[in-house]
Amino acid sequence: MWHPPLAFPVELVSLLRGASNLVALTGAGVSQESGLRTFRDAQAGLWAQYRPEDLASPEAFRRDPKLVWDWYAWRREAVKGVRPNPGHYALAEMETHIPGFTLITQNVDGLHRMAGNQNVLELHGNIQRVRCADCYTFAETWEDDTESVPKCRECGGLLRPDVVWFGEALPRVQLEAAVEAARSCEVFFSIGTSGVVQPAASLAFAAHNRGAAVIEINAEPTPLTPKADYVFHGKSGEILPRLVEAAWG
Ligand code: APR
Repeated sequence: MWHPPLAFPVELVSLLRGASNLVALTGAGVSQESGLRTFRDAQAGLWAQYRPEDLASPEAFRRDPKLVWDWYAWRREAVKGVRPNPGHYALAEMETHIPGFTLITQNVDGLHRMAGNQNVLELHGNIQRVRCADCYTFAETWEDDTESVPKCRECGGLLRPDVVWFGEALPRVQLEAAVEAARSCEVFFSIGTSGVVQPAASLAFAAHNRGAAVIEINAEPTPLTPKADYVFHGKSGEILPRLVEAAWG
């Protein structure tokens, strides 16, 4: 699909063309144009009565495991019918032009890998993966029933989504790799994230403090906006393809 190039600053285009280490941090906004609600969008249907923060936590799972399991089953179904959008594909193309490209995502929908990105760090896990809450054994299949949460075949513990809940630690290997990439990159993109959840939100500032050029692409201002070197307010699915076109078209 051809896009008329937007008027991007010449120095930004040459910065991208010359970059060897680039980080792209993404949030739910990147998947919004694929039809997925952002994390702080209102929930739909029967889940509208709940705030995500009240379901995505170990306490909620302890209190009512079936409610939390059913919410993630609903979200897995919602993701199944969803495809990457032009913003995802633009990031996959960008990776082919940058030797040291790292995509750090807070999203759990798996759309970046589906679009073709290789070096993806899933800081908050992946909703399509299911594991045991006790022994961490992954489950490819499970016995669904309407009354209770499926059990682990290894230890009998409750199964849960392999995502990071509020109050839980992020996966250490992915987080350390993300911090290292942010500290050593020349260019740092923050795309489709409100920048309010730590530690992901601190990565852009770590890059900025090491002298990286910070580029924000988001539908609205965030706490990062005043620090960013370039800010594009709008839809990532429209801006990213044009930026990739302008740099490597
Ligand atoms: N293009 C660009 N930005 C968009 C688009 C779009 N099409 N649609 C929405 N946005 C912006 C919104 O303006 C918002 O600032 O994307 C951002 C999404 O912010 P959140 O909904 O807070 O999602 P996110 O930043 O990913 O949340 C981070 O918080 O709740 C936890 O674990 C959860 O991973 C999530 C984390």
